[in-house]
Amino acid sequence: MASADPVLNLPSATSNIRATDICSIKVLAESAKLSAIPSTYNSLTDPCERQVADELTPQIPVIDLSLLLSDDPQLHAEAVQHLARACEEWGFFMVINHGIPEGLIGDVISLSQKFHNLSDGEKAEFGDKGVSSPIRCGTSFNPKSEDVHYWRDYLKVITHPDWAFPHKPQGFDDVAKEYCRETRKVARKLLEGISESLDLEPDAIAKATALDTGLQVFIANLYPPCPQPELALGMPPHSDHGFLALLIQNGVGGLQISHKGKWVNVKPLPNSILVNTADQLEVASNGRYRSVLHRAVVNDKETRISVVTVNGPDLEKVVRPMPELMEREEAAFRGMKFKEYYELQQKNRLDGKTCMDHIRIKPGEESE
Ligand code: OGA
Ligand code: NI
Repeated sequence: MASADPVLNLPSATSNIRATDICSIKVLAESAKLSAIPSTYNSLTDPCERQVADELTPQIPVIDLSLLLSDDPQLHAEAVQHLARACEEWGFFMVINHGIPEGLIGDVISLSQKFHNLSDGEKAEFGDKGVSSPIRCGTSFNPKSEDVHYWRDYLKVITHPDWAFPHKPQGFDDVAKEYCRETRKVARKLLEGISESLDLEPDAIAKATALDTGLQVFIANLYPPCPQPELALGMPPHSDHGFLALLIQNGVGGLQISHKGKWVNVKPLPNSILVNTADQLEVASNGRYRSVLHRAVVNDKETRISVVTVNGPDLEKVVRPMPELMEREEAAFRGMKFKEYYELQQKNRLDGKTCMDHIRIKPGEESE
């Protein structure tokens, strides 16, 4: 719909509205006083899909970054082992003692909410013009390629190697710059520990993939209250590109991770950062640390905000299993330039781990 204010034209037709017709689900949810979701947002036809193993939440691994960085070799070695188990068994952990000030985390969340509270008109200059634009905001994941849409608005910014950021709301860019720098540091330290846990030099993965000029994407997600949370999803099951995704949220839950075939609700420890291992780590570790499948569910009461930074290789680097690992095992993935993988993941429908199928070597196939 090409109208300047599509929402006002919609009330009679909200039942089958498409995400391509709107700028944000927030505005639709607020203006149309919906009692039911449009049918195009119905993700969950099978109620079994929502069965959740709450009893597993307390077992989610906790990584104390101060122990990983300890000068005491014993404490450090134990932390590396702990990190290895977390990556192998869960692909997900909560980081405590990460050194990022609580106030900074609070500011990032509240300014992200303020950004989403700007009117559609004020955000128009940041509208999604495709994967290569440094700043893009929109709704769902990739509305043009989807049959079913997601109850989510997003702002995605490429914050490294080149810095870009919206100039509004006031102060957002300075706060985000600090936060992005801090999360890059934490991601690097974790990646060094992970590298060690694979019997590699701490900086082996970082060097092989030029992490110093690596891609960082900052994503501010907003999930407005949804009248039928049992039917819609904020984000479908997927894995992330890059090495490590670091997530903070506004105290409203909704992230679920897949663990041993069950969905597990994530209830973070206070002031912790949630970290999931992503696709390029699965490749570099030759399949030992599998990227975790996760999704976002929605609720009918409160707006949820989450802020994710995804930290990955240099876009120009070909990512392949680490050569040191190939001395003792067969390659499980062929190499692919990270830029190509990133575009593959961003330009299509978000669908589980299907992007990995493009690089996985099937039994009997030659590696390269
Ligand atoms: C993401 C993501 C989950 C969440 O942005 O990639 O998985 O809980 N977000 O917002
Ligand atoms: Ni994700």
